[in-house]
Amino acid sequence: MSVYILGIESSCDDTSAAVIENTTILSNVIAGQKVHAEFGGVVPELASRAHQQNIIPVVDTALKRAKINKKQISAIAYTNGPGLLGSLLVGSSFAKALSLSLDIPVIIVDHLQAHVLANFLDFPGEEKVKPEFPFLCLTVSGGHTQILQINDYFDMQILGKTIDDAAGEAFDKAAKILGLPYPGGPVIDKLAQEGDPKRFTFAPAKLPGLDYSFSGLKTSFLYFLRDQLKENPNFIDENIHDLAASIQYAIVKSLTVKMEIALQNTHCTNFALSGGVAANSALRAAMVQLSEKYNKKVCIPPMSLTTDNAAMIAVYGYFKYLKGEFSDLSNIPYSSIR
Ligand code: KG4
Ligand code: ZN
Repeated sequence: MSVYILGIESSCDDTSAAVIENTTILSNVIAGQKVHAEFGGVVPELASRAHQQNIIPVVDTALKRAKINKKQISAIAYTNGPGLLGSLLVGSSFAKALSLSLDIPVIIVDHLQAHVLANFLDFPGEEKVKPEFPFLCLTVSGGHTQILQINDYFDMQILGKTIDDAAGEAFDKAAKILGLPYPGGPVIDKLAQEGDPKRFTFAPAKLPGLDYSFSGLKTSFLYFLRDQLKENPNFIDENIHDLAASIQYAIVKSLTVKMEIALQNTHCTNFALSGGVAANSALRAAMVQLSEKYNKKVCIPPMSLTTDNAAMIAVYGYFKYLKGEFSDLSNIPYSSIR
């Protein structure tokens, strides 16, 4: 039997709607918000307003692309947190109103857990190799960095996390220091392709256990550039590729070192990657290397499913639907990790 879930994601600066049939993506529409680029980061108030403008056309397009009638939808899954409260309220209020008008249930979804479950999505006509429980997952996004043990779709145990900035934030802040546009992660990734990652050394933080810290890296990058610019005001322009490659190397190294310790100390036979920073080409390559070194299978979602998207919200909703876990309309979105 086919279950059709409409997913709605509005936790940060992307308005997204997707329709899936069981775990297969029929549509996954994402409207980004260019309005934040000139501010070098997401402006919450502007994000909420842009979600208000985008939500109806985005949902409408998702239904049209999926070629289904809204009466066929089994349930609506929406992001309930963590995220920007004003942004979450737009998606959640829309989802609740639509569920009332269609007389179908709503399902609340945790954004971070949904990033992990993006590994269970399929595209039409191609069934992907999925992770097997229990598995380790490195979740790296603009707001979060965690190593998790995934025992089941809903049983996710945090083994380590960042104590300050997230990995995506480290990329974005480094890009800002270099005068690059927001979000800086993809820009650094692209510039780094033609750079020498060993040209400049930025040491990763040394923290016990599986926790991360990125704020020291950002500060040493800032001070290094400040000193170099005193000598040569064109230092950044003249070395942009090597600078991008070197800071990317340091961030990826920080992530890899802890993941390696986690792999050495686990009985899990496989691991996965998730979150926006999972789009990073150096990180993807490093995870494949770890997989070969430790002979453990690694699952990495396709690029389009790593950054924020509603298909991952829908697939989390699908697994909850199978358990009959619906929510009532009184649920209020939350802004920080629970
Ligand atoms: O998961 P996501 O789309 O949103 C959050 O939930 O935060 O992650 C966004 C983050 C941003 O910090 C962005 O710079 C980073 O993911 N990112 C990348 C790349 N693509 C996106 N970082 C490094 N390399 C990339 N290719
Ligand atoms: Zn995200």
